[in-house]
Amino acid sequence: MNMQMVELEATGIVKRFGSLVANDHIDLKVVRGEVHAVMGENGAGKSTLMSILYGMQAPDQGSILLRGQGVRFRSALDAIDHGMGMVHQAFKLFNSLSVWENVVYGREPVRGISLDRRASMAKVADLAERFRLKIDPSARVGDLSVGVRQRVEILKALYRDARILILDEPTAVLTPPERDGLFDVIRTLKADDRTILFVTHKLHEVMAITDSVTVLRHGRVTERMATRETTPADIIRAMTGRVVNLTVERAPAAPGALVLDVEGLTIGTGPKPVVDRLDLKVRGGEIVGIAGVAGNGQTELIEALTGLRRPDAGRVTLAGQDVTQADVATHRAAGLAYVPEDRAVTGTARGASAADNLLMGYQRQQPFAKGFRLDGKAIAEHARRLIARFGVKIPDETVPVGTLSGGNLQKVVIARELTHQAPLLIAEQPTRGVDVGAIEFIHGELVAERDRGRAILLVSAELSEILALSDRILVMYEGRILADLPAGEADEDRLGLLMAGRVAEAA
Ligand SMILES: Nc1ncnc2c1ncn2[C@@H]1O[C@H](COP(=O)(O)OP(=O)(O)OP(=O)(O)O)[C@@H](O)[C@H]1O
Ligand SMILES: [Mg+2]
Repeated sequence: MNMQMVELEATGIVKRFGSLVANDHIDLKVVRGEVHAVMGENGAGKSTLMSILYGMQAPDQGSILLRGQGVRFRSALDAIDHGMGMVHQAFKLFNSLSVWENVVYGREPVRGISLDRRASMAKVADLAERFRLKIDPSARVGDLSVGVRQRVEILKALYRDARILILDEPTAVLTPPERDGLFDVIRTLKADDRTILFVTHKLHEVMAITDSVTVLRHGRVTERMATRETTPADIIRAMTGRVVNLTVERAPAAPGALVLDVEGLTIGTGPKPVVDRLDLKVRGGEIVGIAGVAGNGQTELIEALTGLRRPDAGRVTLAGQDVTQADVATHRAAGLAYVPEDRAVTGTARGASAADNLLMGYQRQQPFAKGFRLDGKAIAEHARRLIARFGVKIPDETVPVGTLSGGNLQKVVIARELTHQAPLLIAEQPTRGVDVGAIEFIHGELVAERDRGRAILLVSAELSEILALSDRILVMYEGRILADLPAGEADEDRLGLLMAGRVAEAA
């Protein structure tokens, strides 16, 4: 980075969607070999800008210089030919194919007319090793974890010799150890003089891995700075124009009646069930957080508690009703609100309007149902209220949610599930992909719901979020609850030991 060669320079980029200006004369200058963060609130225009730089959309105005040469990409393939690579949030891989086949797909090496499998497989293995991408080229992609699939996407870009790699919220779906692995890969790429554009909402990541930051607000650049000359507070101010309170203010909980009662829950029939005779109680007026390394039964537990999966033994009682073998609709009717981890697949219908998405699952309740018909006016008013209150960036409630930015889609799901009066709320990764201002707001709302007497079960990969919100923290390990700590007795170190199963050291 000593020579300060400019790798990429975009000038005056404008992109409109109808009357909305998603990118409003954006200038971006990226130096070769640096990690350049792009930050901004949900809907600020980050993903739009990235998709323009990757040739997926054409800008309405503006120009792009790549290593000093003017370029005008006609497609993503064209951008790839110019050394651009991108890892999308939703991966574009074939699950039934191997890592190697995915990586070379569309670029199969040819010797005569037959494919030179061995040479290209060796090249893939070689690239993986060189960039510290721990991966088995012969593994089937469908069998891999999210973190490893992301490495396949990076490998695919490197196989096409990407000099600039765009990562749009790569850490949103990663566990903390997977994120550390990604940062190792980024450091080796940097050492090889590759350039990284890194979109994230997490300030600590910006401080840890990036060299410079460009901040967007309402489609415009508000600030450009060297990371070592700035602070998280400065970045937040440039993004939001205000001071954001990152600590959650809350009074001690006053737990009331038992809302969720789980006894001896078991999933799996072998000698080592995924969930193993688990007991769990959540009362009204308390937030119970579940901490644990991914893969210790949390996913299966939540599936059983929401009706997505039938347990093999044990009993689940929700607001006094036995729902052990009940389906999703019956759980909802018994008093469950649920913010799923995967909002794009199970949380929303992309082609449907925001109003319909804000109603989904609750259309039979008052005041939306009038006899057998739906009351369109009540539904629209309800939607407009929630859009305003949760700050969803959308032209109006009739717009399909498929065009919303990632964080705004998350706000739609949160708004729907928080505002229906179910006695139990299960929230999985409630602030994944939302900006700092929205995190502050959602945390405040969760505490307010607790104080109104709701029982809340929180699952989050962010230990800081578990610690900030929970009144009690349960640590899950190998299908069991290993510890049940009052909030005051938990800290990151102790939870870390418990999550690794090291009970004696954590005592
Ligand atoms: N194809 C589209 N049609 C209509 N509007 C769109 C389209 N793509 C993006 N938008 C709008 O452009 C704005 C910017 O969206 P973009 O996805 O770039 O935001 P972002 O900064 O990536 O936000 P987030 O942090 O939530 O991912 C949003 O208001 C979004 O709704
Ligand atoms: Mg985005």
